[in-house]
Amino acid sequence: MSARPRVLLTRRWTDEAERRLASRFDVTLNDKDQPLDAAALSAAVREYDAICPTVTDSINAAILETPGRRVKLIGNFGVGYNHIDVATAQRLGIRVSNTPDVLTDTTADLAILLMLMATRRAGEGERELRGGKWTGWRPTHLMGLGLQDRTLGLIGYGRIAQATARRAHHGFGMRIVYNSRRRVASAIEAECNATYVEAVEDLLANSDVVSLHCPGGAETHHLIDARRLRLMKPTAVLVNTARGTVVDEGALADALASGRIATAGLDVYEREPVVHPGLLALENVVLLPHLGSATLETRTAMGMRVAENLEAFFDGKPLRDPVV
Ligand code: DGY
Repeated sequence: MSARPRVLLTRRWTDEAERRLASRFDVTLNDKDQPLDAAALSAAVREYDAICPTVTDSINAAILETPGRRVKLIGNFGVGYNHIDVATAQRLGIRVSNTPDVLTDTTADLAILLMLMATRRAGEGERELRGGKWTGWRPTHLMGLGLQDRTLGLIGYGRIAQATARRAHHGFGMRIVYNSRRRVASAIEAECNATYVEAVEDLLANSDVVSLHCPGGAETHHLIDARRLRLMKPTAVLVNTARGTVVDEGALADALASGRIATAGLDVYEREPVVHPGLLALENVVLLPHLGSATLETRTAMGMRVAENLEAFFDGKPLRDPVV
């Protein structure tokens, strides 16, 4: 039997990151890159010392409680960990780590991309052109909304929200308001002249663009629902790079179809990879397939960060990024 800890990567990683893990551990790769089902994840709990899942793997209580458990560490490939039942992991003494910091800028870039695509109607324009329907330049063609001097309301003000605020404030001259569980230090607010808004409702009513940056999970489930969508300006834009469950997709599709809000840019969905059919039918929404951290360098950095956590754990040192 191998003396090296047994480690399972549930999906393909970049070559560089896979090589680093394989140099130190007895690694099983997922060459086919197919998501593992619950039975395979349960079997993995019995067979591996560490499992490295992604957002597509539901590491729930039933899986963690698999009898004959061998797993000691869940080294998540990603910063969000709402797909892992961390309370159960903690109760069972299974450690959990994640990959903060390394995907902050890449994800903030994508929030800005969605803001620009939605406000400048980029998806609509490309579909028109590729569909052979472009009849040429005219003054009233596909007019959008400029971001300059508009108000950006951020829900959640962690690393990614702050990086988005920096781009929006210093790049586009947007006013920044934010809501989060806790008000941040005044030095952080000062970076973008950000104003804390205590009630989500007030933020929604006063923002031209609302960008979501809170964690997923039960606490934020349908935080943006029909009632709150009604509070937004009819010219408003909703951007979601956080988790799909934060938004009631059916209510959003209705709000967009009726013109209750102007447009939206989404990277995450309630039931990925399924997208609400009401959204798919609309022109005034940009739909990206969960690309927030999808650059080669960032995905490699995420893998390296998982490796650092595993190496620390199996060397008996503190985890670099402990969740529990
Ligand atoms: C993250 O890091 O949370 C990304 O959304 C992928 O899981």
